[in-house]
Amino acid sequence: MLQDSFGRRFYYLRLSVTDVCNFRCNYCLPDGFQCDKSTPDFLSLKEIGVFAKAFAVLGTEKIRLTGGEPALRRELPDIIAQCKQIEGIKKVAVTTNGYNLPSVISSWHDAGLDALNVSIDSLNPANFKKITGHDRLHKVLAGIERAQSLGIRSIKVNAVLLKNDNATEIDQFIDWLKNQPVTLRFIELMQTGDNEVFFKEQHVNGASIIAKLLKQGWQPIIKTHDAGPAEEFWHPDYQGRIGVIRPYSKDFCKSCNRLRISALGKLHLCLFANEGIDLREYAQTGDVEQLAMAITRLITGKTPSHLLHQGHSGMIQHLSMLGG
Ligand code: 5AD
Ligand code: SF4
Repeated sequence: MLQDSFGRRFYYLRLSVTDVCNFRCNYCLPDGFQCDKSTPDFLSLKEIGVFAKAFAVLGTEKIRLTGGEPALRRELPDIIAQCKQIEGIKKVAVTTNGYNLPSVISSWHDAGLDALNVSIDSLNPANFKKITGHDRLHKVLAGIERAQSLGIRSIKVNAVLLKNDNATEIDQFIDWLKNQPVTLRFIELMQTGDNEVFFKEQHVNGASIIAKLLKQGWQPIIKTHDAGPAEEFWHPDYQGRIGVIRPYSKDFCKSCNRLRISALGKLHLCLFANEGIDLREYAQTGDVEQLAMAITRLITGKTPSHLLHQGHSGMIQHLSMLGG
Protein backbone atom coordinates (compact mmCIF):
# COMPACT_ATOMS: atom_id res chain seq x y z
CA MET A 1 0.00 0.00 0.00
CA LEU A 2 1.30 3.41 -1.01
CA GLN A 3 2.15 5.41 2.09
CA ASP A 4 4.04 8.68 2.60
CA SER A 5 6.49 9.75 5.31
CA PHE A 6 3.61 11.00 7.47
CA GLY A 7 1.67 7.73 7.44
CA ARG A 8 -0.94 8.93 4.96
CA ARG A 9 -2.22 6.26 2.57
CA PHE A 10 -3.40 6.88 -0.95
CA TYR A 11 -6.54 5.10 -2.03
CA TYR A 12 -7.63 7.65 -4.50
CA LEU A 13 -6.27 8.94 -7.82
CA ARG A 14 -7.47 12.08 -9.57
CA LEU A 15 -6.54 11.72 -13.19
CA SER A 16 -6.98 14.65 -15.54
CA VAL A 17 -7.83 13.75 -19.13
CA THR A 18 -7.68 17.28 -20.58
CA ASP A 19 -6.79 20.83 -19.52
CA VAL A 20 -9.36 22.29 -21.88
CA CYS A 21 -12.62 23.67 -20.50
CA ASN A 22 -15.55 25.26 -22.29
CA PHE A 23 -16.80 27.24 -19.27
CA ARG A 24 -15.49 30.57 -18.06
CA CYS A 25 -15.99 30.35 -14.30
CA ASN A 26 -15.04 33.72 -12.89
CA TYR A 27 -12.75 32.17 -10.23
CA CYS A 28 -10.99 29.81 -12.66
CA LEU A 29 -10.96 30.77 -16.34
CA PRO A 30 -12.64 34.22 -16.52
CA ASP A 31 -11.38 34.71 -20.08
CA GLY A 32 -12.02 31.13 -21.13
CA PHE A 33 -9.43 28.48 -21.94
CA GLN A 34 -6.52 30.00 -23.83
CA CYS A 35 -5.55 27.73 -26.69
CA ASP A 36 -2.16 28.23 -28.26
CA LYS A 37 -1.80 26.94 -31.79
CA SER A 38 -0.20 23.60 -31.02
CA THR A 39 -2.63 20.82 -30.25
CA PRO A 40 -2.02 19.68 -26.69
CA ASP A 41 -0.88 16.11 -26.59
CA PHE A 42 -2.98 14.77 -23.74
CA LEU A 43 -2.53 11.23 -22.42
CA SER A 44 -3.90 8.62 -24.79
CA LEU A 45 -6.38 5.97 -23.75
CA LYS A 46 -3.52 3.49 -23.60
CA GLU A 47 -1.31 5.75 -21.47
CA ILE A 48 -4.20 6.40 -19.10
CA GLY A 49 -4.54 2.63 -18.76
CA VAL A 50 -0.86 2.30 -17.77
CA PHE A 51 -1.22 4.96 -15.06
CA ALA A 52 -4.44 3.41 -13.76
CA LYS A 53 -2.86 -0.05 -13.60
CA ALA A 54 0.25 1.19 -11.78
CA PHE A 55 -1.86 2.97 -9.17
CA ALA A 56 -4.12 -0.09 -8.81
CA VAL A 57 -1.03 -2.23 -8.11
CA LEU A 58 -0.17 0.26 -5.35
CA GLY A 59 -3.58 -0.03 -3.68
CA THR A 60 -5.63 2.69 -5.39
CA GLU A 61 -9.31 1.78 -5.21
CA LYS A 62 -10.93 4.82 -6.72
CA ILE A 63 -10.19 6.87 -9.82
CA ARG A 64 -11.78 10.22 -10.50
CA LEU A 65 -11.50 11.52 -14.05
CA THR A 66 -11.20 15.27 -14.13
CA GLY A 67 -10.18 18.07 -16.48
CA GLY A 68 -10.57 20.86 -17.54
CA GLU A 69 -13.85 19.43 -18.67
CA PRO A 70 -13.44 15.67 -19.15
CA ALA A 71 -16.55 15.44 -21.34
CA LEU A 72 -14.58 17.31 -24.01
CA ARG A 73 -12.62 14.07 -24.56
CA ARG A 74 -14.74 12.08 -26.96
CA GLU A 75 -13.28 8.80 -25.72
CA LEU A 76 -14.43 9.47 -22.15
CA PRO A 77 -16.78 6.43 -22.10
CA ASP A 78 -13.85 4.24 -23.23
CA ILE A 79 -11.62 5.78 -20.56
CA ILE A 80 -14.26 5.04 -17.90
CA ALA A 81 -14.72 1.46 -19.12
CA GLN A 82 -10.98 0.86 -19.21
CA CYS A 83 -10.44 2.12 -15.64
CA LYS A 84 -13.41 0.09 -14.45
CA GLN A 85 -11.95 -3.15 -15.84
CA ILE A 86 -8.68 -2.84 -13.94
CA GLU A 87 -8.32 -5.25 -11.06
CA GLY A 88 -8.52 -3.47 -7.72
CA ILE A 89 -10.34 -0.38 -9.01
CA LYS A 90 -13.68 -0.45 -7.24
CA LYS A 91 -14.98 2.98 -8.13
CA VAL A 92 -14.75 5.23 -11.16
CA ALA A 93 -16.03 8.78 -10.89
CA VAL A 94 -16.18 11.84 -13.14
CA THR A 95 -16.13 15.53 -12.20
CA THR A 96 -17.91 17.63 -14.81
CA ASN A 97 -19.36 21.08 -15.36
CA GLY A 98 -22.38 19.21 -16.72
CA TYR A 99 -22.71 21.29 -19.89
CA ASN A 100 -23.97 18.35 -21.92
CA LEU A 101 -24.90 15.94 -19.18
CA PRO A 102 -28.39 14.88 -20.37
CA SER A 103 -26.92 13.63 -23.67
CA VAL A 104 -23.78 11.94 -22.38
CA ILE A 105 -24.63 10.49 -19.01
CA SER A 106 -26.12 7.24 -20.29
CA SER A 107 -22.91 6.43 -22.20
CA TRP A 108 -20.89 7.03 -19.03
CA HIS A 109 -23.32 4.89 -17.07
CA ASP A 110 -23.10 2.09 -19.66
CA ALA A 111 -19.30 2.29 -19.36
CA GLY A 112 -19.59 1.57 -15.63
CA LEU A 113 -19.53 5.00 -13.97
CA ASP A 114 -20.09 4.76 -10.20
CA ALA A 115 -20.12 8.36 -9.09
CA LEU A 116 -20.61 11.82 -10.48
CA ASN A 117 -19.57 15.30 -9.28
CA VAL A 118 -21.22 18.25 -10.95
CA SER A 119 -20.41 21.93 -10.40
CA ILE A 120 -23.36 24.22 -9.73
CA ASP A 121 -22.37 27.55 -8.24
CA SER A 122 -25.86 29.02 -8.30
CA LEU A 123 -29.41 27.73 -8.55
CA ASN A 124 -30.53 30.97 -10.17
CA PRO A 125 -30.19 30.68 -13.96
CA ALA A 126 -29.07 34.29 -14.44
CA ASN A 127 -26.50 34.08 -11.70
CA PHE A 128 -25.27 30.70 -12.94
CA LYS A 129 -24.69 32.38 -16.28
CA LYS A 130 -22.91 35.30 -14.66
CA ILE A 131 -20.50 33.02 -12.81
CA THR A 132 -19.83 30.42 -15.52
CA GLY A 133 -20.42 32.40 -18.72
CA HIS A 134 -23.05 29.87 -19.83
CA ASP A 135 -26.83 29.92 -19.61
CA ARG A 136 -27.03 26.20 -18.96
CA LEU A 137 -28.32 25.66 -15.44
CA HIS A 138 -31.46 23.93 -16.74
CA LYS A 139 -29.32 21.51 -18.79
CA VAL A 140 -27.09 20.69 -15.84
CA LEU A 141 -30.10 20.05 -13.58
CA ALA A 142 -31.74 17.91 -16.26
CA GLY A 143 -28.50 15.94 -16.46
CA ILE A 144 -28.55 15.26 -12.73
CA GLU A 145 -32.17 14.10 -13.01
CA ARG A 146 -31.20 11.77 -15.84
CA ALA A 147 -28.26 10.38 -13.81
CA GLN A 148 -30.65 9.68 -10.94
CA SER A 149 -33.12 7.95 -13.24
CA LEU A 150 -30.30 5.73 -14.51
CA GLY A 151 -29.64 4.67 -10.93
CA ILE A 152 -26.35 6.51 -10.31
CA ARG A 153 -26.59 6.87 -6.57
CA SER A 154 -23.45 8.76 -5.67
CA ILE A 155 -24.02 12.28 -6.97
CA LYS A 156 -22.23 15.28 -5.52
CA VAL A 157 -22.82 18.89 -6.43
CA ASN A 158 -19.98 21.39 -5.92
CA ALA A 159 -20.61 25.05 -5.21
CA VAL A 160 -17.65 27.36 -4.73
CA LEU A 161 -18.45 29.96 -2.06
CA LEU A 162 -18.24 33.46 -3.47
CA LYS A 163 -18.89 36.47 -1.26
CA ASN A 164 -20.36 38.70 -3.99
CA ASP A 165 -21.88 36.07 -6.23
CA ASN A 166 -23.65 33.35 -4.25
CA ALA A 167 -23.22 33.91 -0.51
CA THR A 168 -26.84 35.10 -0.27
CA GLU A 169 -28.07 31.88 -1.88
CA ILE A 170 -27.01 29.45 0.85
CA ASP A 171 -30.58 29.03 2.14
CA GLN A 172 -31.84 28.35 -1.36
CA PHE A 173 -29.18 25.66 -1.80
CA ILE A 174 -30.11 24.08 1.53
CA ASP A 175 -33.86 24.14 0.70
CA TRP A 176 -33.11 22.40 -2.59
CA LEU A 177 -31.78 19.42 -0.61
CA LYS A 178 -35.16 18.74 1.01
CA ASN A 179 -36.08 16.53 -1.94
CA GLN A 180 -32.72 16.05 -3.67
CA PRO A 181 -30.79 12.92 -2.70
CA VAL A 182 -27.40 14.45 -3.53
CA THR A 183 -24.47 15.67 -1.46
CA LEU A 184 -23.98 19.39 -1.91
CA ARG A 185 -20.46 20.56 -1.10
CA PHE A 186 -19.71 24.17 -0.38
CA ILE A 187 -16.07 24.72 -1.33
CA GLU A 188 -14.06 27.60 0.05
CA LEU A 189 -12.49 29.54 -2.79
CA MET A 190 -8.78 28.70 -3.12
CA GLN A 191 -6.16 31.11 -4.25
CA THR A 192 -4.34 30.17 -7.44
CA GLY A 193 -1.70 31.97 -9.50
CA ASP A 194 -4.33 33.66 -11.67
CA ASN A 195 -7.01 34.74 -9.19
CA GLU A 196 -5.20 36.65 -6.44
CA VAL A 197 -7.30 39.82 -6.53
CA PHE A 198 -10.53 37.89 -7.08
CA PHE A 199 -9.64 35.65 -4.13
CA LYS A 200 -9.12 38.61 -1.80
CA GLU A 201 -12.49 40.07 -2.77
CA GLN A 202 -14.52 36.87 -2.76
CA HIS A 203 -13.18 34.37 -0.23
CA VAL A 204 -15.73 33.30 2.39
CA ASN A 205 -14.79 31.20 5.39
CA GLY A 206 -16.81 27.97 5.46
CA ALA A 207 -16.90 28.02 9.28
CA SER A 208 -19.91 30.36 9.14
CA ILE A 209 -21.82 27.75 7.13
CA ILE A 210 -20.97 24.98 9.57
CA ALA A 211 -22.26 27.14 12.43
CA LYS A 212 -25.48 27.75 10.49
CA LEU A 213 -25.95 24.04 9.75
CA LEU A 214 -25.40 22.99 13.36
CA LYS A 215 -27.95 25.61 14.48
CA GLN A 216 -30.49 24.15 12.02
CA GLY A 217 -30.03 20.62 13.40
CA TRP A 218 -27.65 19.21 10.79
CA GLN A 219 -25.47 16.48 12.29
CA PRO A 220 -21.86 15.57 11.48
CA ILE A 221 -21.19 12.30 9.62
CA ILE A 222 -18.16 10.17 10.57
CA LYS A 223 -15.74 9.79 7.65
CA THR A 224 -14.73 6.54 5.94
CA HIS A 225 -11.11 5.94 4.85
CA ASP A 226 -11.82 6.77 1.22
CA ALA A 227 -13.86 9.87 2.02
CA GLY A 228 -12.95 13.22 0.51
CA PRO A 229 -11.82 16.28 2.44
CA ALA A 230 -15.37 17.51 3.09
CA GLU A 231 -16.83 17.77 6.59
CA GLU A 232 -20.25 16.22 5.99
CA PHE A 233 -23.64 16.69 7.64
CA TRP A 234 -27.08 15.05 7.46
CA HIS A 235 -30.51 16.12 8.63
CA PRO A 236 -33.57 13.92 9.22
CA ASP A 237 -35.84 16.31 7.25
CA TYR A 238 -33.62 16.45 4.17
CA GLN A 239 -32.92 13.83 1.52
CA GLY A 240 -29.65 15.51 0.60
CA ARG A 241 -26.47 15.89 2.59
CA ILE A 242 -24.13 18.83 2.91
CA GLY A 243 -20.34 18.91 2.84
CA VAL A 244 -18.11 21.85 3.56
CA ILE A 245 -14.59 21.86 2.13
CA ARG A 246 -12.25 24.17 4.00
CA PRO A 247 -8.75 23.97 2.55
CA TYR A 248 -7.63 26.80 4.85
CA SER A 249 -8.67 24.99 8.02
CA LYS A 250 -6.05 23.61 10.38
CA ASP A 251 -5.25 19.94 9.72
CA PHE A 252 -6.93 19.93 6.28
CA CYS A 253 -3.98 18.03 4.82
CA LYS A 254 -3.72 15.47 7.62
CA SER A 255 -6.30 13.19 6.06
CA CYS A 256 -5.07 13.63 2.49
CA ASN A 257 -5.69 10.36 0.66
CA ARG A 258 -5.28 11.38 -2.97
CA LEU A 259 -2.67 11.88 -5.65
CA ARG A 260 -3.01 13.58 -8.99
CA ILE A 261 -1.87 12.89 -12.53
CA SER A 262 -2.11 15.75 -15.00
CA ALA A 263 -3.39 15.36 -18.55
CA LEU A 264 0.24 15.44 -19.68
CA GLY A 265 1.29 12.60 -17.39
CA LYS A 266 2.86 14.52 -14.50
CA LEU A 267 2.51 13.37 -10.93
CA HIS A 268 1.38 16.14 -8.58
CA LEU A 269 1.95 15.13 -4.98
CA CYS A 270 -0.28 18.04 -3.92
CA LEU A 271 -2.70 20.28 -5.81
CA PHE A 272 -0.49 23.18 -4.72
CA ALA A 273 2.91 21.56 -5.23
CA ASN A 274 5.65 23.57 -6.90
CA GLU A 275 6.01 21.14 -9.76
CA GLY A 276 4.59 18.14 -11.49
CA ILE A 277 6.94 15.19 -11.93
CA ASP A 278 6.96 13.91 -15.48
CA LEU A 279 6.20 10.18 -15.60
CA ARG A 280 4.95 10.01 -19.14
CA GLU A 281 7.87 7.98 -20.46
CA TYR A 282 6.72 5.04 -18.33
CA ALA A 283 3.19 5.37 -19.69
CA GLN A 284 4.56 5.46 -23.22
CA THR A 285 6.65 2.34 -22.82
CA GLY A 286 3.79 0.68 -20.95
CA ASP A 287 6.02 -0.43 -18.09
CA VAL A 288 3.50 -0.68 -15.24
CA GLU A 289 6.01 -2.15 -12.80
CA GLN A 290 8.65 0.56 -13.30
CA LEU A 291 5.98 3.24 -13.09
CA ALA A 292 4.68 1.81 -9.81
CA MET A 293 8.26 1.76 -8.47
CA ALA A 294 8.83 5.37 -9.49
CA ILE A 295 5.62 6.49 -7.75
CA THR A 296 6.57 4.58 -4.59
CA ARG A 297 9.95 6.31 -4.59
CA LEU A 298 8.51 9.78 -5.25
CA ILE A 299 5.80 9.61 -2.60
CA THR A 300 8.43 10.23 0.09
CA GLY A 301 8.67 13.78 -1.28
CA LYS A 302 5.08 14.61 -0.37
CA THR A 303 5.02 17.53 2.05
CA PRO A 304 2.86 17.50 5.21
CA SER A 305 0.71 20.44 4.11
CA HIS A 306 0.14 22.99 1.39
CA LEU A 307 1.29 26.55 2.05
CA LEU A 308 -1.92 28.26 1.00
CA HIS A 309 -2.11 30.13 4.29
CA GLN A 310 1.02 32.01 3.30
CA GLY A 311 -0.56 32.81 -0.07
CA HIS A 312 1.64 30.22 -1.76
CA SER A 313 -0.31 28.25 -4.37
CA GLY A 314 2.63 26.48 -6.04
CA MET A 315 2.62 26.18 -9.81
CA ILE A 316 -1.14 26.03 -10.19
CA GLN A 317 -2.42 28.99 -12.23
CA HIS A 318 -6.05 27.85 -12.25
CA LEU A 319 -7.75 24.57 -11.36
CA SER A 320 -8.50 23.74 -14.99
CA MET A 321 -4.83 22.71 -15.12
CA LEU A 322 -5.38 19.85 -12.76
CA GLY A 323 -9.07 19.39 -12.06
CA GLY A 324 -9.14 20.40 -8.40
N1 5AD B 1 -11.28 27.34 -5.52
C1 5AD B 1 -12.18 26.39 -5.13
N2 5AD B 1 -12.77 25.54 -5.97
C2 5AD B 1 -12.47 25.65 -7.27
N3 5AD B 1 -12.89 24.94 -8.34
C3 5AD B 1 -12.26 25.41 -9.43
N4 5AD B 1 -11.44 26.44 -9.10
C4 5AD B 1 -11.55 26.60 -7.75
C5 5AD B 1 -10.94 27.48 -6.82
N5 5AD B 1 -10.05 28.39 -7.17
C6 5AD B 1 -13.87 23.86 -8.24
C7 5AD B 1 -14.78 23.72 -9.41
C8 5AD B 1 -15.16 22.27 -9.38
C9 5AD B 1 -14.08 21.61 -8.57
C10 5AD B 1 -13.33 20.55 -9.29
O1 5AD B 1 -13.19 22.63 -8.17
O2 5AD B 1 -15.91 24.53 -9.32
O3 5AD B 1 -16.39 22.06 -8.76
FE1 SF4 C 1 -15.29 26.26 -14.39
FE2 SF4 C 1 -14.23 23.87 -13.87
FE3 SF4 C 1 -14.08 24.92 -16.30
FE4 SF4 C 1 -12.61 25.95 -14.32
S1 SF4 C 1 -12.38 23.92 -15.16
S2 SF4 C 1 -13.84 27.08 -15.88
S3 SF4 C 1 -14.02 25.68 -12.61
S4 SF4 C 1 -15.99 24.38 -15.23
